Amino acid sequence: MAGNPDTRTPSNEGRAGWFSGKNLISIKDFSKAHIEDMLDKSEAMLHSLERHERRLDLQSKIMATLFFEPSTRTRLSFESAMQRLGGGAIGFADASTSSSAKGETLADTVKIVSSYADIIVIRHPKAGAMAEAVENASVPVINAGDGIGEHPTQALIDLFTIRMEKKRLGGLDIALVGDLKNGRTIHSLAYALAMFGNNLTLIAPDALQMPEGMVEDIKSRYHVEVSRSDSLDEAGRCEVVYIPRVQKERFTDIDEYHRFAKYYVVNRDFLEKADGDPIIMSPLPRTEEISRDIDNMKNSVYFKQASYGVPVRMAILSMILEGIK
Ligand code: NCD
Repeated sequence: MAGNPDTRTPSNEGRAGWFSGKNLISIKDFSKAHIEDMLDKSEAMLHSLERHERRLDLQSKIMATLFFEPSTRTRLSFESAMQRLGGGAIGFADASTSSSAKGETLADTVKIVSSYADIIVIRHPKAGAMAEAVENASVPVINAGDGIGEHPTQALIDLFTIRMEKKRLGGLDIALVGDLKNGRTIHSLAYALAMFGNNLTLIAPDALQMPEGMVEDIKSRYHVEVSRSDSLDEAGRCEVVYIPRVQKERFTDIDEYHRFAKYYVVNRDFLEKADGDPIIMSPLPRTEEISRDIDNMKNSVYFKQASYGVPVRMAILSMILEGIK
């Protein structure tokens, strides 16, 4: 079954039905027009949810979630999205209860699961896991996080949130703050934001800055301004501040992690001084970097952002599975 041509990784083609049968591995595989289509569909799904519509778009379809790393929002919102569309969900949240604990390879797992499900959502600690999965799957594969690589569906949720909050998705000054080295949500989002013509301010201590090669790649692809700083004050003039947690599990030296865990903290004091009146975003979970004292301020949109996981993933699942028997 492997090698079904319908599960190829996308390149630029016509728009209608473009996502049908495609894998969703890297945000770089999509054009602005493709992303806009996905965000429009997400908005339609949000309105449908608000109207409590009973949808059967994916009736008789099954999604498998194979999670080899911890997750709350990603896995549960994918499962909720599938069920909201009338489909079913199977999978594991803890790889130690799957046959990978007996030594089964990802390739074999994915081959088998392709005969149980119509689409596979995978989170894995290894960079390169997605390529192995795509090679061995005969159904579309969605990357739900590959080590420090990418997290493209989170980037779509992040873009959707900005579009809902700011009523536009370009020409904004956006600060990405904190662990820009290890944060996979950052790695997808930075490309997507630059694609839409936003200016990026990368705020991090030297040890956690975005890899130089990535910064150069973003600048040469999209010709946007990318500046670097280690001062949180720079974020105050921006319209959007995106601050994920410092990624503890990627550190080999735990003391180093503790040195950076509270390096930047967005709190009431920061917001009171911030000229740009920025919205504060995070993929969550938060640890120390967002003070609880701002949770009820209008700037804090991270819980709303998490709630958009369902409509955006409804759009993703329905557009990929559209037209597939
Ligand atoms: C993120 C992840 O797993 O990369 N979580 C998520 O999907 N919302 C961010 C994180 O763990 O910090």
